[in-house]
Formats: sequence, structure tokens, C-alpha cells
Amino acid sequence: MKIETILTPAELPVLAQRDLRATACVVFDVLRATSTFVTALHHGAQAIIPVSEIAEAVEIKKSEVRSQKSEAILLGGERNGVRISANGIDFDLGNSPREYTPEKVCGKTIVSTTTNGTRALRACVGAKTILASSFLNLGATAEFLRRENCENILLVCAGTGENQADEDVLAAGALCEMLSGGKTMFSDSAQIAFQTYTLAKPDFSAAICGSENARRLLAIPELRDDVEFCSRHNIFPLIARMNADGVIRSIKN
Ligand code: MLT
Repeated sequence: MKIETILTPAELPVLAQRDLRATACVVFDVLRATSTFVTALHHGAQAIIPVSEIAEAVEIKKSEVRSQKSEAILLGGERNGVRISANGIDFDLGNSPREYTPEKVCGKTIVSTTTNGTRALRACVGAKTILASSFLNLGATAEFLRRENCENILLVCAGTGENQADEDVLAAGALCEMLSGGKTMFSDSAQIAFQTYTLAKPDFSAAICGSENARRLLAIPELRDDVEFCSRHNIFPLIARMNADGVIRSIKN
């Protein structure tokens, strides 16, 4: 098993030139997109459709309205961390995992657009396997990768804006630790993530709360609890897999 890491969103465009047909991509946007998707699936959402642009999300909803299937579709996501209102359309949900309760999302399909997370997922299209992961389901993700005997694993840190996001690198590092041992080989970028996590472990919460995005969320009263929520380990035993149709569904572990 060979593990590599994309540490910053600036590296995402390179993925388009790479042949990923033998690679399993694991995308991390701990604060908050992938944590939210995993939570929604655990609470019974049918599927998540990640898109890059607001107009794409609105168009999918409109096409569902035309085919009278709109009840099953919810619009979710954020810009600048808050719920989207655009072109006279108020999205149904923001990007806080705590909003995605069973009452709201059970049986629904969520079309979501966020600043970094959905962009990172779309950049992996063409890969053999694409997983949306987080601390919430890290154990299940590790077990799946071992069980599937994935040879090439690419850990994709979604980042914050154009910058590296510490919380994503920490999650990538934690997964490296879970997959270490035996014949596992780490690229230098994966070593960086692994070492970053090992150094931060003794005071994990401080490491997460010190990140740029965490500080932003902690400053917004109604969103501050998202940081603690997204830092919980292994509370959802599921794998969130994005299939060739670009739709994320859960595989129970
Ligand atoms: C993102 O995709 O950029 C993040 O999930 C944004 C956020 O949740 O604040």
C-alpha cells in the first residue's frame, strides 16, 4: 500500500492530468463539508450530490421540479461559512453537520456546493475509488481501504480558500497512523501529515481549534459548536463513497 497526500488546494488542478484509475482518493474537508456529508448519510439521507457552483445546484433542483421529484431534493452548502441565498433562492440547509438531522434529511437527496470540499471531491473524478472522510468515520474508512486492499491511496486535503487547512492534514495524518505498519509506504507528503498528527495528538483539540477555519467558526455563535462536533472520532461506522455518477452514497461498515 502506497500513500500520498495532497496538502493544499493549489495542487488540485494537477489531479486532472493524473491517471487515477488505479488510485483510491480519500477527501478530507473536516470543517465542515465531508463531516456534514457523513453525518447526513448516517441520519438517513439517500445521497449527496456535490457540485462546485451555486448555479449547478439550482439547475439540478429546477430539473427535479420539472420532473415532479423536487420534494426529495434539498439544496445545501455555504459561502463564507453561511447558508446560501442566491438569485432569489434560499437554500434549504447551510453546511453545519448539526443541521442535518434525521427529521430534515432522512430519505432526501442533498445537492451541496461549498467553497473547498465539493471542489476537492469533483477534482477526483476518474479515480478508482473516491471516499468522503472525516474524523467522524475515520475508522470505517481505514477498515474499507484495508479490506479493499487498495494499492495506491491519495489523501486529498480540501483546504480553506487557497490555503492548507490544518484540520484536514491532521485527519490525513491520523489515517496514515491507522494504515501504518506492514508493507505500507509513505510519500514525503504523507510523512508530513503523519508527523503533524503525531506531534498534535497530545493536545489534539488545541491543534484543531488553532486552525484558520476553526477560529472563523468559533467566532460565529451559532456555528461555534461545529468545531467540537467535527472533532469527534469514529461516531459513525459508515463509508461515504462517490460513484462514477458523481453521487455520494453510504456503504455500511
Ligand atoms: C468548505 O467546503 O470550504 C468548507 O466546508 C466550508 C465551511 O464549511 O465553512
